Amino acid sequence: MSDAPQKTVFLETFGCQMNFLDSELVIGQFRRMGLRIASDRDSADIILFNTCAVRDHAEQKVTSRLGELRQVKADRPGVIIGVIGCQAEREGKLLISRFPHIDVLCGPSQLDRLPDLIAEAQATRKRAVALSGGVKGRQRDADPEGNAIERLDQSRAFAPGENPLQAYVRVQRGCDKFCAYCVVPGVRGKEKSRKPENIVADCRRLVEAGCREITLLGQTVNSYVQNDAAGQPVTLARLLEQLCGLPNLLRLRFVTSYPGGFDENILRVMAAHPAICPYLHIPAQSGSDRMLNAMRRQYTAADYLRLMDRAREIVPGISLAGDFIVGFPGETESDFAATVEMVRRVRYKNCFVFKYSPRPGTAAAQLPDDVPDDVKRERNNILLAEQAAISSQTHAELVGQRLSVLVEGPSKSAIESPAGNPRQLTGRTVFDQIVVFDCPAGAEPSQLAGRLAEVRILHATPYTLIGELATIESAGAPNDSAPLRYKSLTVIQ
Ligand code: 5AD
Ligand code: SF4
Repeated sequence: MSDAPQKTVFLETFGCQMNFLDSELVIGQFRRMGLRIASDRDSADIILFNTCAVRDHAEQKVTSRLGELRQVKADRPGVIIGVIGCQAEREGKLLISRFPHIDVLCGPSQLDRLPDLIAEAQATRKRAVALSGGVKGRQRDADPEGNAIERLDQSRAFAPGENPLQAYVRVQRGCDKFCAYCVVPGVRGKEKSRKPENIVADCRRLVEAGCREITLLGQTVNSYVQNDAAGQPVTLARLLEQLCGLPNLLRLRFVTSYPGGFDENILRVMAAHPAICPYLHIPAQSGSDRMLNAMRRQYTAADYLRLMDRAREIVPGISLAGDFIVGFPGETESDFAATVEMVRRVRYKNCFVFKYSPRPGTAAAQLPDDVPDDVKRERNNILLAEQAAISSQTHAELVGQRLSVLVEGPSKSAIESPAGNPRQLTGRTVFDQIVVFDCPAGAEPSQLAGRLAEVRILHATPYTLIGELATIESAGAPNDSAPLRYKSLTVIQ
C-alpha cells in the first residue's frame, strides 16, 4: 500500500436543491476514488465550485472565488481547480479566458465524467472540459436520453454506518418551458423523466439505509411522465402512489411544480396518503397577466388562483410556497400591485422573491432592463414584508399547539453562532414549517436527528416556530441504526 497522503477535495455548492444533489453524488464518486473531503479550501489538492447561473449575483460569487484562487494556483501549480454545474455550462470557454488557472470545466449534464476529467487534468497537466454547448443547448443536447445523469443518479452509495435521514431523488432533468428570463433550459438541456423503476429502486435503497424523508426533484416536477417496463405511462400522481408503498418512508415531498396544466390527481393522491406532505412549492412569478405573458408563463393569474383554491379544497391545510420575480422588463406599479394582491390572496407559507436579473441567451435579455435597481429593491422589500405579515399571523395561530416535527439536528444558531444555544435542535413539520426547541437533558443533540418529536409551540416569528419538546420517538424507532444513549424520552409538560 502506498504511504502517499490521501488526496483531498474541497467542493463548494451554490444554487438550488438540484445542485446540492449533484454535489452529494459527485462527493460519493470522490470517496470511491479514495479522496478525502476537505473543509479547508486553500490547502485542498482539488478545489471545485458547483455553480448556479440563474442570477448574476450567484455567478459573481464564484468569479470572486476564482479571482482569489489565482495566488493559490501560482503557489501550488499542482492544485486542480474546477468549475462544474450551470455557470460552467453557460459561460464555458469565456470563463477560462478570464481565469486561465481553471483546470476542469464540466456542465451539469456531464457530471458522471468528473472523476475522469480530474484524472485527465492531473495526468496531462492540460485542461479537461466537458460541456454541452452553452445556452445554445436548445439546438444541441449532449445527453438527449439523459443517460449520463442516470449513471450519476444510480451511483449513489452509502459509506458504512452512514444513515441518510433525508434525501433528494431526481425524477426529471432539464426543462422545456423556456420562460423568457430563465437560463435553466439552456444549461440543463431538454426535459427528460427518469424511468419509474429506477426512481423506485433508488428510493427503496435509501429507505432501507434509514432514510425517512425523500424529496423528489424536477424543474417542473408535475410534468413527470415516463413509461414503465410494461410500456404503461407513469405520471407523477402514479409515481407518488408507488413510493408511498415503501415501508418506513415517513415523508415524501416533490418540488418544484409548474402551475400550467397541473393535474388534480396529484392533489387527490396527496390527500389520500399521509406520507405525502401537504406542501406545494408552486412559483407564480407574477400576479399580472401582462407580465406572465411577457415572461412566457403558460397560465393567467386567474388560472393560478383557481388552482390554489382547488389545492386548498382537495388537500385541507395544504401549505403553499411561491417564487416571484420583481422588476421584470416593463413591470409597472400596477403590475406590481397585482403581484402584491396575489400574495395577499394566496396566503403562502413562504415566498422566495427575486430581483429580475437579465441572463444572456434568454429571450428576455433582448428586452431593456428598464426597472431601476432601487425600484426592484423596494418592490422586493414590499413583497417580503407582505409575506412576513402573513407568516406572522399564521404562525401566531400555532402558539399553544403541539406539532409533529421530524428532527433534523442541531439548529443553525447552535452550529454557527458563538452566542447561540448549543443544545438547540431544529426540525420541520409536514407543512415545511421550521421548529426549534431545546434538546432534553441527558440526550446528545446530534443523536436525535431523524426522530419524530411532538413539540409544543411557545412563540413564533415570521420564519421560525419556537417550542418545547413534549415527546420524542423512542430509540427503537424503525430503521434505527445510530445507538442512542437512552431508551425513550417521554412527556416533559
Ligand atoms: N432573474 C431573477 N430571478 C430568476 N429566477 C429564474 N430566473 C431568474 C432571473 N433571470 C427565479 C424564479 C425561479 C427561481 C428558481 O429563480 O423565480 O422560480
Ligand atoms: Fe426556468 Fe421556467 Fe423551466 Fe422553471 S419552468 S426552470 S423558471 S424555464
